[in-house]
Amino acid sequence: MTITTHANPLVQKAFGAPKSELHIHIEGSLEPELIFALAQRNNVKLAYESIEALRAAYAFTDLQSFLDIYYAGASVLLHEQDFYDMTMAYCERALADNVVHAEIFFDPQTHTERGVSIDTVVAGIDRALADAEKRGLTSKLILCFLRHLSEADALATWDAALPLFERYPRMIGVGLDSSERGHPPSKFERVFEQARAKGLKLVAHAGEEGPPAYIYEALDLLKVDRVDHGVRSIEDPALVTRLADSRVALTVCPLSNTKLCVFDDMTQHTLKQLLDHGVAVTINSDDPAYFGGYVNENYSAIVEALKLDDKEVYTLLRNGFEASFVTPVERAALVAKLDQYWTQDGSSAVA
Ligand code: ADE
Ligand code: ZN
Repeated sequence: MTITTHANPLVQKAFGAPKSELHIHIEGSLEPELIFALAQRNNVKLAYESIEALRAAYAFTDLQSFLDIYYAGASVLLHEQDFYDMTMAYCERALADNVVHAEIFFDPQTHTERGVSIDTVVAGIDRALADAEKRGLTSKLILCFLRHLSEADALATWDAALPLFERYPRMIGVGLDSSERGHPPSKFERVFEQARAKGLKLVAHAGEEGPPAYIYEALDLLKVDRVDHGVRSIEDPALVTRLADSRVALTVCPLSNTKLCVFDDMTQHTLKQLLDHGVAVTINSDDPAYFGGYVNENYSAIVEALKLDDKEVYTLLRNGFEASFVTPVERAALVAKLDQYWTQDGSSAVA
């Protein structure tokens, strides 16, 4: 149980709730302290003199300004144990926030282009997740293609990853991340087609900085099961209706959106409008080491800024389980656990 406390009783209640996290880049959980420790362990030279200097550089103006620093931070990851240590550090923070199920992204191309094998990456991450599972955190792994790289690079990554999907049952899907503008989902239609043919789950970042047209492409061409971010859908009423009717969930990351200047401040966030329209919105941390908070801080920021009520917070928590890639039996158990906590007697808060 978390020891974090908050003056707002509804935020406190959300902090203690069993919850999911469906949008977390594991490389985005690398705290500056661990970056420096791994740099020293692996003899990697960083462009920053100190932990404080690195943290001071976390003043982002847009997605690209963040990605430049995020890829530099990931350069300290070389060995299986490095990937284990990074992942275990995230799991500790997630457990402290009462996350009981996490679906975690990783970016193999960030590592393979530095000569680290994809086997090393997945072995370290999966070993940590197996250890965390013994402590009550179940998880899935989603391989993301970097959209600023070529389609050929994504296809080569897919080929290299194929045996790993067999070897690691936790690896259940593919996603699409990195620089969105100028790299529409259509660029990756063929590699997603191959992943779909294998029966994998499909997600893609769309409508974070990119236009609603990219969300349509993610739905129609990539045939995604969830949209990551998707906040710019609010600009297109027909798209909002389609998302609400289809229950294709959005994995929204409030602190990310304000840190990357998608919204000027949290009171401008469109999450409540999306919820009001019946869109299956979920709350997530994206890159918590860079954006000032893990999943519970995302709940507190959005609940306070948008003055969400008890029912809305329950809906967000419940959506996080409904949209997860678990079996129907597992989903029912997760929802029952939430209902037990939220209402004390186990009856659903919304029904
Ligand atoms: N990779 C890590 N975080 C990301 C984000 N917020 N958008 C796109 N790619 C990312
Ligand atoms: Zn993301």
